[in-house]
Amino acid sequence: MSAPNKSYDPVEVEALKPEEIERMRDEALAAFAAAADLDQLQEAKTAHCGGTSPLALANREIGALPPQAKAEAGKRVGMARGAVNKALAARQSELEAERDARVLVEEAVDVTLPHDRVAAGARHPLTTLSERIEDIFVAMGYAVAEGPEAEAEWFNFDALNIGPDHPARGEQDTFFVQGAEGAEGTDGSGVVLRTHTSPVQIRSLIDREPPVYVICPGRVYRSDELDATHTPVFHQVELLAVDEGLTMADLKGTLDHMVQALFGGEGMKTRLRPNFFPFTEPSAEMDMVCYVCRGESVGNPDRPCRTCSSEGWIELGGCGMVNPKVLQACGVDPEKYSGFAFGFGIERMLMFRHNVEDMRDMVEGDIRFTRPFGMEI
Ligand code: PHE
Repeated sequence: MSAPNKSYDPVEVEALKPEEIERMRDEALAAFAAAADLDQLQEAKTAHCGGTSPLALANREIGALPPQAKAEAGKRVGMARGAVNKALAARQSELEAERDARVLVEEAVDVTLPHDRVAAGARHPLTTLSERIEDIFVAMGYAVAEGPEAEAEWFNFDALNIGPDHPARGEQDTFFVQGAEGAEGTDGSGVVLRTHTSPVQIRSLIDREPPVYVICPGRVYRSDELDATHTPVFHQVELLAVDEGLTMADLKGTLDHMVQALFGGEGMKTRLRPNFFPFTEPSAEMDMVCYVCRGESVGNPDRPCRTCSSEGWIELGGCGMVNPKVLQACGVDPEKYSGFAFGFGIERMLMFRHNVEDMRDMVEGDIRFTRPFGMEI
């Protein structure tokens, strides 16, 4: 700042001339107007409002003026600075508004766009149900046993006392994979897609020393057309117990326990009806009490039951005492050991347990079918 000068002529101070102040102001206003974004405006602000800007420097000269000139120059500079600050603030909010509008557009999320996130899956109810059944028996000390789906004919048929002439061996039921001639390592036996999980029982009896208690879940194949009540690929759970002194009473008690554990509550029991299977003797069909009406719809027209058609019983599957010929084929002494076995289809149980009306729903893999069954594990 220059020293006070009593004879100072304000007109002679270049920076404080009215036209100079006007020019500084106009340059500032033009620079603000020309700033295309907030960064450029910041530069213009430093240049025109900062401590070394022309107007700030001019302001400093005021102190050196004689008193009579101070007021006039101060007013002039003050007004110019006021106008510059106002223009700066206006341009600032204008550019901020522009930026905000642009950001809103640029960063907008279109919630209607298709997304590629992988939908959460669900466990198939056949798996859940099968594991639930396994759990019941694992809790009783049974082991879960598994075997190959492409199985030697000997395991699937011969060892189970299903002779070469048995209709189940015929082409209409069995998927043949390889004839005996071409099959390697099967001791002259052909290869089929297993028609039941009973071959796993044979493998278990051969591999383990009695007592043997196994539960064999798995996928099985029969050459049926896919329709509402049939599928060529389905699931079974079969059970085998071989020990000293086992009787049909053990079989019956085991079946009753299973249906009580699966369907719960009072009055759940099973009944056996005579039947024939080559691998069991005696053999039986097993039914369980209808888990909905618990038998109360029988002869009671006031309480019809859709689940069992008012018959009171629901057919489950087959069972019996292991045929001594099967024990012998597996090297187990039938004089010392006896056993019981049963087997049933999981699809059928899923149908009546959960009112699934069409078997095709179970094989189509549509997640809308599986999801309502939940994630029970
Ligand atoms: N293996 C028989 C089937 O698939 C079911 C069964 C198993 C029957 C055990 C009796 C004993 O049809």
